[in-house]
Formats: sequence, structure tokens, C-alpha cells
Amino acid sequence: MSLLEVEDLRIRYARQGRLKAALRREPYDFEAVCGVSFTLGAGETLGLVGESGSGKSTIARTLIGLKKASAGSIRFDGTEISEASAREWARLRTDMSMMWQDPVGSLSPRLTVKSLVTEPLRINGRPAGRDEAERLLGLVGLPAEFATRYSHQLSGGQARRVGVARALALDPKLLIADEPTAGLDMSVQGEVLNLLADVQARSGVAIVIITHNLNLVRHVTDKMAIMYLGRFVEKGPTDRVFAHPRHPYTKALLAANPEPDPDARHERVTLDGEVPSPVNRPSGCDFHPRCPWARPTCATTEPNWTKDAGRGHRCLFPL
Ligand SMILES: Nc1ncnc2c1ncn2[C@@H]1O[C@H](COP(=O)(O)OP(=O)(O)O)[C@@H](O)[C@H]1O
Ligand code: SF4
Ligand SMILES: [Mg+2]
Repeated sequence: MSLLEVEDLRIRYARQGRLKAALRREPYDFEAVCGVSFTLGAGETLGLVGESGSGKSTIARTLIGLKKASAGSIRFDGTEISEASAREWARLRTDMSMMWQDPVGSLSPRLTVKSLVTEPLRINGRPAGRDEAERLLGLVGLPAEFATRYSHQLSGGQARRVGVARALALDPKLLIADEPTAGLDMSVQGEVLNLLADVQARSGVAIVIITHNLNLVRHVTDKMAIMYLGRFVEKGPTDRVFAHPRHPYTKALLAANPEPDPDARHERVTLDGEVPSPVNRPSGCDFHPRCPWARPTCATTEPNWTKDAGRGHRCLFPL
């Protein structure tokens, strides 16, 4: 049994312009995540990549119970959680932890680092003193003196460290990090990369990393999934996907992002053409309007998920 087993997960959102849709008798919601499946073992790390709008954060929000799934199953630690009650979530939240994009910026500037990192402990009625703060700071490589600082006194990298310490406070089984290196300078991105690698090696926590930073994916994750318009188009062990991408979209993503990335503040996915909207999907293969390898059949035939020696893809003519 894996720690996390996600099966055919579907997530819908209400779309804009309800009235117009009603007049045209169109549905007023759309599927942002359309049938995603994956498993994650204890202590394993999964990288989730894909352009903005592909549904990565939506999956994260659903995994931690902030957004309901419309169909499919999520088993966490042996329990089905897609229909969990608020009461069950109170317990689940201590086993699952989310590291937000700007983990400290959104928190009170009046709190010290000690209060910030121990807050999850305090909320759950656990000891939250100097010792706990120092242990957590040690876990993310910050000296004990940092306990008395305030968030505005932290550099970008230190703030991310505090964010990770907070996320690890309750010793979760699963950590979800949504864009952990977004908006950081190159050198600091490297620091966060090393930190996550360290945390993974030392704490045994399973990690889902959502990122545009392929460097981070390559060096920290065991397996990766590539998303396009709410679907996985490819999934497999990270080293094998990097060595030989089978799906044209994966190939394009990896080619658009030579390492080291000199300007990683920007999203580095530079494929030609607009990302189509999940509200209005292309016919056939979702990727065909932008695919350099597309053939006429691709515009009419929807590719199924094809398993292939421990990995899988969704392409009629894999590379
Ligand atoms: N609260 C919302 N209401 C309606 N649509 C949303 C909402 N949040 C996200 N979306 C849409 O769902 C799709 C997936 O978004 P998201 O999960 O944020 O993608 P990503 O994290 O990969 O950039 C996008 O088309 C986005 O516009
Ligand atoms: S099915 Fe066709 S259009 Fe889609 S990714 Fe494969 S080759 Fe490209
Ligand atoms: Mg996102």
C-alpha cells in the first residue's frame, strides 16, 4: 500500500458567465482536472510540472481538503479521504502539510520566528517552547538565534526555510510544496533545492513538489508527472523521463528549460502558441494545435493513457 493513492481524480470549477451559459444551454462548470491517477510511497518525492493553468494547484488544494473532488478516489495512509468530514480533516491536517508559495509574507509581521514555526504545535495543543523552535530551525539549517527575529528581518531564502520548518512542525507524512522556488534569485533557488533534498533524506516525509523549476524536479524528485489542460500527459521515474521523454509536450518543456536557468523568476516554459482553455478543449489530442509532431489523426482521435514499462504517456505517436 502506498501512502497516497489517487485514482481518476476529477475536479470541477464554476466558470464565468453563468447566465450566458444558461442561455446557450451550456454547462456552467468545467473540469480543471480530468482523471488524474498516481501513487506516492512513504518518503517518496513526486514532481508535478506543466504550464500555468494546467491544474497543478487545484490538485494540491484537493489533496489537502480545501476543494472537493467531483469524482475519483484519494486514499491517504489507507483511508479514503475524498469525502472526509470536517472533523476527520482536523486530524488529517496534522499528517499532511502544505507549504505555500510565499510562506512567511502572508503571516503576521508581529510574530517572531519562534512563534511562526511553533504555531502549528500550539494550535494542536502540543508543547511549543524554545526547545521545539530550536529543533525545527535545526531541521532547516537555521541557527537557534533566529528564533527571536521577525519575518521582515529574513532574506527570501531564510523565509522559505521558516516556511518549511512550519510545514514540518507536526511531523507530517506528506508535504505539498506549491512553487517553492518561485520569485527567488537563482542562488536562493539552489539553497531551497538543497534544503528540500535534505529534508527528504532526513525526515522521511513524502513530498509533492509543484514547480516550473526543472532543475528542482531533476535533482529532488523520484518521479514526475507532466500536466497539460488538467490531464497527465506523461508520468514516470524522473531520471528516465529526463533521459527519454516520450510525449512531445514533455520534450518541448525539457528543451525550453536548459539548465542552469539564468532567469528563473519567469516561468520558463516557452512553447509556441497559446495554452488552450480547459473550458473549451481542442478536439482529438489536447496538445495537437501546438504539437510539432502532430499528424492529421491527432486532430480527431483522443489518445488514451498508455502504460509502458513502469511509466506512461498520452500520445498516439510517442517519441
Ligand atoms: N477558483 C477558481 N474558479 C474557477 N476556475 C479556477 C479557479 N481556480 C483555478 N481555476 C482554473 O482552473 C484551471 C487550473 O488552475 P490551477 O490549478 O491554478 O493551475 P496551475 O496551478 O497549474 O497554474 C485554470 O484554467 C484556472 O483558470
Ligand atoms: S497525439 Fe499527436 S498531437 Fe498529441 S502529442 Fe502525440 S503526436 Fe502530438
Ligand atoms: Mg498553481
